[in-house]
Amino acid sequence: MHSFGRILRIVIACACGFCCASCGPHMNIQPSIQPYEREMPEMPAVTVPFTGRLETRTLEASQIVANPLSRTPENLEKGRIYYGYYCRMCHGKEGDGHGPVGQSYVPKPADLSSPALAGLTAGELYYRMLYGTGHEPVMDQTVLPEHRWPLVMYVRTFQKAEGR
Ligand code: HEC
Repeated sequence: MHSFGRILRIVIACACGFCCASCGPHMNIQPSIQPYEREMPEMPAVTVPFTGRLETRTLEASQIVANPLSRTPENLEKGRIYYGYYCRMCHGKEGDGHGPVGQSYVPKPADLSSPALAGLTAGELYYRMLYGTGHEPVMDQTVLPEHRWPLVMYVRTFQKAEGR
């Protein structure tokens, strides 16, 4: 008898619990913000997009004959520093393709002083630097826009070319 009363109490408690759960407020009808209901907050200007990327692959760039930057010691020095950031480990200090990291590549990094590259216009060299063969990922995903023309100017110093 004692245990029957106990079981009965448990059964009643369960039934009440079930009732409360099924009749009480439903989560899906409580006040809440539905998907897309609120406008997206504005992103801070420095946010990096996770879709798309900087698009600089323009025909105009490859048609540029001379570097738009003036060949000043400051710009050349910038180019030298940026070359150390992005290129030297593969193309080598002298631009001859003998950088330590590049030696495991097939083909080995290009000799930047080669006549084939020296004969390019500044825009073509800019284009090859960003999208040429051998770069994975392509350099336009790595090299900041403001570093590009100083780099082209510095690469020219390996080519002993008068042209910019
Ligand atoms: C991870 C190694 C690596 C880095 C870093 C690198 N390169 Fe290269 N680069 C290569 C390889 C490999 C090739 C392909 C050589 C070939 O195809 O014979 C190449 C080719 C090139 C070419 C010729 C492309 C063509 O289409 O003819 C240019 C110009 C060039 N690199 C410039 C640069 C400059 C400037 C930087 C720095 C902004 C740079 N590279 C960074 C490895 C590298």
